[in-house]
Amino acid sequence: MGICFSSEKKQHSNCNQTSPPVGHGSAACPTPDKSAINTPLASKNVKDLRQSPGYINVSIFTYDEMSLATKRFRPELILGEGGFGVVYKGVVDDTVRTGYKTTQVAIKELNREGYQGDREWLAEVNYLGQLSHPNLVKLIGYCCEDEHRLLVYEYMASGSLEKHLFRRVGCTLTWSRRMKIALDAAKGLAFLHGAERPIIYRDFKTSNILLDGDFNAKLSDFGLAKEGPMGDQTHVSTRVMGTYGYAAPEYVMTGHLTARSDVYGFGVVLLELLIGRRAMDKSRPSREHNLVEWARPLLNHNKKLLRIVDPRLEGQYSFKTAMKVAQLAYQCLSQNPKGRPLMSQVVDILETLQSSGNHELQSGDGAVTLYEAPKGTIVSPAKKRSQNRRDGERGGEAHRSNPGNGRSKSEPMNDFDRNNLSPNFVSHEK
Ligand SMILES: Nc1ncnc2c1ncn2[C@@H]1O[C@H](COP(=O)(O)OP(=O)(O)OP(=O)(O)O)[C@@H](O)[C@H]1O
Ligand SMILES: [Mg+2]
Repeated sequence: MGICFSSEKKQHSNCNQTSPPVGHGSAACPTPDKSAINTPLASKNVKDLRQSPGYINVSIFTYDEMSLATKRFRPELILGEGGFGVVYKGVVDDTVRTGYKTTQVAIKELNREGYQGDREWLAEVNYLGQLSHPNLVKLIGYCCEDEHRLLVYEYMASGSLEKHLFRRVGCTLTWSRRMKIALDAAKGLAFLHGAERPIIYRDFKTSNILLDGDFNAKLSDFGLAKEGPMGDQTHVSTRVMGTYGYAAPEYVMTGHLTARSDVYGFGVVLLELLIGRRAMDKSRPSREHNLVEWARPLLNHNKKLLRIVDPRLEGQYSFKTAMKVAQLAYQCLSQNPKGRPLMSQVVDILETLQSSGNHELQSGDGAVTLYEAPKGTIVSPAKKRSQNRRDGERGGEAHRSNPGNGRSKSEPMNDFDRNNLSPNFVSHEK
């Protein structure tokens, strides 16, 4: 769970620039072209959904069935609680609905007193009801009886990335597992951004990345998802919503939303995976509260980077690969949205890094050569430090390599320091 914020921004006067999210409606501007994101079935409101509940492969459950599936919402079955409400582990089987194939599920019940409501609930149904991708959590069904609003998802046996990275004693997330999770999550975002009309996820964070029994990662929580800009539009204007520490600075300042806002959020999570610290951590010294502000300027410096990489990863990664990942995070976290790579480029870069595995990228004369790292060349930070000491620090500072295949644009190295994130929104503690 994080600290979420939401602040009303003035709608821009130009309605062409503004498109209300599917099912959210808007008093300010006309309803957008429904064909926009291949969402012909998207329901504008609950009444609409009840009249034409036509999502293929999405079951509509009664509240009694939900109660049976969760053994009357037994407290021992609670998996967690977020801004939306409580999440229970459940089973839908023949005893819940005759003939239903036994399916483990996670059932999220909307807390009517919460600040999120029908709008977010409906957005989840509309998006997840239609989207299908191995890196998006599957919506198995929903319940919309009377005042009840529940969502039934595939059960993700290993829980959230947040739990594994920050809450478990003795983190079991190895380097290669972290990189695979980053790649999976990047694929999920790239899929959303690649839709006919891009979908902006808006709430990318470790608690919304869920892991199945094999640690495959999937994105959950589409309550804040929104249609992205189309045609000549450069952005959509919206209420500023998201979670402190993850939202892109330009979005927080202006309410202008683009797919690059998600890229920034991805950069924050990549940094959390690399450094092993939370995006916001008030228990640390004040200059280290905000992970991006503290760590980003250090990402381009070999020795400084080695000092801040998650010590629990010691001995598991090659230094060159860590540098590449740090460079990628650096670019995703650019203050200039156009300086951030596209998610499709992020996927390419992470795939290259993953397929090289223990191989290391070595460049010479502008050519990039892959070679197999001889055994023992995987250097842990501690070993590297002592090696540097032995070598009289010959390793040198500022080794700057282009990230991945170098297709993404870069920005001048130091502009982050000139533009620190200064949120100007109201916050709600969950
Ligand atoms: N499909 C699922 N399978 C297994 N566990 C789940 C599933 N969906 C949610 N959970 C668990 O329930 C908990 C609460 O999730 P929820 O999405 O409601 O809140 P959150 O992500 O912590 O916060 P936020 O409301 O900001 O998204 C999470 O910690 C997650 O581990
Ligand atoms: Mg969540």
